[in-house]
Amino acid sequence: NTDLPLSGKKLLITAGPTYEPIDPVRFIGNHSSGKMGYDIALEAAKKGAKVILVSGPSNQKISHENVEVVKVMSALEMYDACHKVFSEVDVVVAAAAIADYRPKEVATEKIKKDSEEFIITMDKNPDILASLGAIKNEQFLVGFALETQNEIEHAKAKIKKKNLDLIVLNSLKDEGAGFGKPTNKVTFIDKDFNIEPKELKLKEEVAQDIINKIVKHYE
Ligand code: PMT
Repeated sequence: NTDLPLSGKKLLITAGPTYEPIDPVRFIGNHSSGKMGYDIALEAAKKGAKVILVSGPSNQKISHENVEVVKVMSALEMYDACHKVFSEVDVVVAAAAIADYRPKEVATEKIKKDSEEFIITMDKNPDILASLGAIKNEQFLVGFALETQNEIEHAKAKIKKKNLDLIVLNSLKDEGAGFGKPTNKVTFIDKDFNIEPKELKLKEEVAQDIINKIVKHYE
């Protein structure tokens, strides 16, 4: 259907947590369910876009002919999957909660509980969105910011640092916002620092608002 507002456009959407392995049975992860990203992917597909959904471990399901799902585990795998397709997409929406650090060494066998204390040394993961922002041409880059304090200032700093066109701020201080829940409360901040707070809504509705912003960009 070529009448839809995003037909002819290709979106890369990231969703879910990353799992950073410690040994064959353990990992360091976070509370992202993937729902926010999957809802954005479905909304984009309904509006006619082709979608590559790069997803960390998640129980969310999606079925739409326009959506290709690429499943990954760790931040490094997500980095590779995103860079592989970046040159062919028009828009990136980064809803994934990516681990900032990963265990320096991954044990090949299950670690035994022999000592009273166990220390994990971590290496910094690459910032996927910043790495895409550094090489972008025409792409429209939408990031998320998950904050717990000084939300607006931190979100603005992320726009600059990651070379974004739009950031979707959600704060864990707001009831009903963030991880796992069916709802989210977000504030849009664009690259000129225009601030647009939204009501608490279902994630499906937040996804519609985000996709509408992208549609407006192309009008
Ligand atoms: O999955 P749900 O349960 O539905 O929850 C949704 C959500 C809370 C995970 C989602 O709304 C959200 O806020 N996602 C971003 C979480 C996050 O990691 O925010 P951040 O402020 O740490 O990161 C800022 C941006 O940089 C994000 O777009 C993130 O994808 C990206 N990033 C972060 C770290 C990193 N190493 N690489 C990145 O690309």
